Amino acid sequence: MIFDSHAHYNDSKFNDDRDEVLKNLDNVKYIMNVADSMKSLKKVINIADKYPFIYASVGVHPEETGELTSVDMDTLLEYTKHKKVKAIGEIGLDYYWDSVERDIQKKWFARQIELARKVNLPIIVHDREAHGDTIDILKSENARDVGGILHCFSGSVEMARDVLNLGMYVGIGGTVTFKNARKIKEVAEYVPMDSIVLETDAPYLAPEPFRGKRNSSDLIKYVIEEISRIKGIPKEEVEKITFENAKRVYRIED
Ligand code: NI
Repeated sequence: MIFDSHAHYNDSKFNDDRDEVLKNLDNVKYIMNVADSMKSLKKVINIADKYPFIYASVGVHPEETGELTSVDMDTLLEYTKHKKVKAIGEIGLDYYWDSVERDIQKKWFARQIELARKVNLPIIVHDREAHGDTIDILKSENARDVGGILHCFSGSVEMARDVLNLGMYVGIGGTVTFKNARKIKEVAEYVPMDSIVLETDAPYLAPEPFRGKRNSSDLIKYVIEEISRIKGIPKEEVEKITFENAKRVYRIED
């Protein structure tokens, strides 16, 4: 069975057929549906309430931090009391779009790690072209205490080593199947199986042969195939180990 450790089924790209997509997923046992803005919080909670196999993560993506206030942190704290909220995220730094001043992104990244430590939930980290600062803040804010996932990992093997040293997991999705994605294939080879979790980032980043189309959790089977090839181990083993890893990081019991 598959555990999709990172998806966005609240996205408007699922507005026409969300129910149908979620009911027809093949071989998917659990999904972590991840918030990205204050506006998305209610949506991820509603979806988690409706579908027994979907959990929720609450947090604000770096590109959405421009207008954040301390009151929003209190609101986030309230949301963490919901029984299906199992993580804080996605939070982090995005220097690719650079749509919010870097100091502001850093401030709210740190504040949300602080919140995660307060409520003892793991974090889901977004890092785009901000590898050095991301690791620095994870270290200085003691992210090790709560653990979590570097989602849609795009760094080098050296950065993966830093992530492992923090006791965190490396999230791998559709990009590992792309033909010219040399770096993430190297990372997949380097990171031990017990530190890898699989993800879609649906509706984005569909794997080959569906690159560019809308993604959904069952397409993780193509990610499993590629990791099986890279590691030289059976697909069943990749599926089983990564499933257990996601349960462990999100502390899901059954
Ligand atoms: Ni995401």
